[in-house]
Amino acid sequence: NLPTATIQVVVHVVYQTEEQNISDQQVMGQIEVLNRDFGASNPDKSSLPKAWSNLPMDSGIRFSLACSDPQGNPTDGIVRKQTDKGGFDHLDSVKFTNQGGSDAWPTDKYLNIWVCNMLGGLLGYAQFPGGPVETDGVVVFYRAFGTEGTAQVPFNLGRTCTHEVGHYLNLRHIWGDTQDCSGSDYVEDTPLQQLPNYNKPSFPHISCNNGPDGDMFMNYMDYVDDDTMVMFTPGQVARMRTSLSGPRSGLIQ
Ligand code: ARG
Ligand code: ZN
Ligand code: CA
Repeated sequence: NLPTATIQVVVHVVYQTEEQNISDQQVMGQIEVLNRDFGASNPDKSSLPKAWSNLPMDSGIRFSLACSDPQGNPTDGIVRKQTDKGGFDHLDSVKFTNQGGSDAWPTDKYLNIWVCNMLGGLLGYAQFPGGPVETDGVVVFYRAFGTEGTAQVPFNLGRTCTHEVGHYLNLRHIWGDTQDCSGSDYVEDTPLQQLPNYNKPSFPHISCNNGPDGDMFMNYMDYVDDDTMVMFTPGQVARMRTSLSGPRSGLIQ
């Protein structure tokens, strides 16, 4: 078993309407999902086909809402900020108080998660390791966050945040972001795959001569529904752990 690495999290709830001001319980439910998914203790991994049933791996990475703020004062790890902005896109306004959002806590020490209304059908986005410090972290649509309250089917199992934190820890999309089998996620134990999968595909879905088992669409780094993505592989875990001993080492005390 890998040594446990716990990441302190601050969740910025940036809301215009009261509906968008999600509850503490909804935030805590999302943290529980992250701990289950990154610990491979999510019961729904039992849905995996036999070929991959032994592959899900505990990353040893865990998440906890911050107990002290950047000044060292006690906090519940949730920042609430009312905004006059009707919604946000992928251009990072939500990360700046002077643009209607909420400033990041020092991104070398905390994983910053912003939850807000998102425009254009965006469920979330993340910054890879090594980017600008002011905008580091992940953003998630308030209707795709947690498992209760405003969370909406089919994105109501907290997997958008699992996927985004995967990116934050240096994971690429499983199909490599090309359309012709030429792209890679730089992970050995995920099969080559042509395109993203959506909804709830049936097994096997073959592309790029990856038969008999086909695409690993039940991976958190595909685009399927929340109830269909259930695993990180050992190769993905290794990549995430490498980011924690390199560019993201400040997160681990
Ligand atoms: N579109 C987003 C991204 O590429 C996330 C998709 C998450 N999918 C889900 N089933 N929750 O980062
Ligand atoms: Zn993604
Ligand atoms: Ca691969």
